[in-house]
Amino acid sequence: MDSNEAKDLFQAQSHVYKHIFNFVSSMSLKCAVQLGIPDVINSHGQAITLQELVTALQLHPAKSGYVQRLMRLMVHSGFFATKKVCKNHDEQEEEAYDLTPSSRLLLKNKVPSLLPFALGMFDPAFATPWQFLGNWFRGNELTPFETAHGMGFWEYGDKNPEFNSVFNEAMASDSGMMNLVIKDCKPIFEGLTSLVDVGGGSGKVARILCEAFPSLNCTVLELPQVVADLPDSANLKFIAGDMFNAIPPADAILLKLTLHALNDEECLKVLKKCREAIPGNGQGKVIIIDIVINAEKDEHESIEAKLFFDMLMMVVVTGRERSEKEWEKLFLEAGFSKYKITPIFGLRSLIEVYP
Ligand SMILES: C[S@@+](CC[C@H](N)C(=O)[O-])C[C@H]1O[C@@H](n2cnc3c(N)ncnc32)[C@H](O)[C@@H]1O
Repeated sequence: MDSNEAKDLFQAQSHVYKHIFNFVSSMSLKCAVQLGIPDVINSHGQAITLQELVTALQLHPAKSGYVQRLMRLMVHSGFFATKKVCKNHDEQEEEAYDLTPSSRLLLKNKVPSLLPFALGMFDPAFATPWQFLGNWFRGNELTPFETAHGMGFWEYGDKNPEFNSVFNEAMASDSGMMNLVIKDCKPIFEGLTSLVDVGGGSGKVARILCEAFPSLNCTVLELPQVVADLPDSANLKFIAGDMFNAIPPADAILLKLTLHALNDEECLKVLKKCREAIPGNGQGKVIIIDIVINAEKDEHESIEAKLFFDMLMMVVVTGRERSEKEWEKLFLEAGFSKYKITPIFGLRSLIEVYP
């Protein structure tokens, strides 16, 4: 073997090890979030030194070296930045940690915040099924989640109220990001008088829409365990039901991240019900907010995140992420004639689908 071949193999070894230990990156992020490091830096009002951080976190003094190692990785993965600060005129400069756009999204009481999403997705109920993925390929359970927990995802939520509320808060925090682009969505929602958000969770998107379009009446159709205790308000109503059975009629049906949790057969059933629920006079539409995989155009980090979601949908529920061609096939099979994709939600696109 010549030295170039050996060099290539060592490079391959780094690549293999990086992927074997990818979980170190997410588990370290979980730790940083659980310790509340982003909020501590934010409350400090400026970049924080290691000693100040250890003190503010009220950690054992002997742990400061370990905190430095956690922070070194978190800086490497872009969650914090370092800069030099001078605490006293005659002292040497010290390294201090600052927030980055990613850690700003993990602050507790800021809008938008993805902290509930992070805490929800780090729940062990999500992590355990991955241990069963290999066996699941050989067995006949519907999902690795079922192999791990002995029941499907939505039933698990019904039987575990604490997990149910953590998951619903996680989804609501993801939906909170819609506030950032609602002003750009005017042409999509203006003129509609009624909208049903199918699988609309605890109603975060519906609330944002009701506020932005006061003449729009919104209904959230959800599983009973999600909406049982949620009160209706002036133009927002919650209905406990099953989207496979009936979808109330409306000018528009919204499905945010509802269809990616379904396989193609289930997706078709729901799309057909949506088509029946909207007016057939060309005035109605279905609005989907979901991932569209675009392997040619997506940047490396976006495609990776989308593929992670695709695997997550395979492991946790029966769903999948879809390319434009795959979406189009479903729309046509469900009896729709045209659609328009607006990529305004980062990883997710808004798709208007017309009869
Ligand atoms: C991935 S979550 C999306 C929640 C919300 N649309 C959002 O983006 O924040 C999918 C939602 O579908 C709901 N769901 C699942 N099966 C359902 C069914 N058969 N009928 C109505 N809702 C259902 C779940 O309770 C869950 O809230």
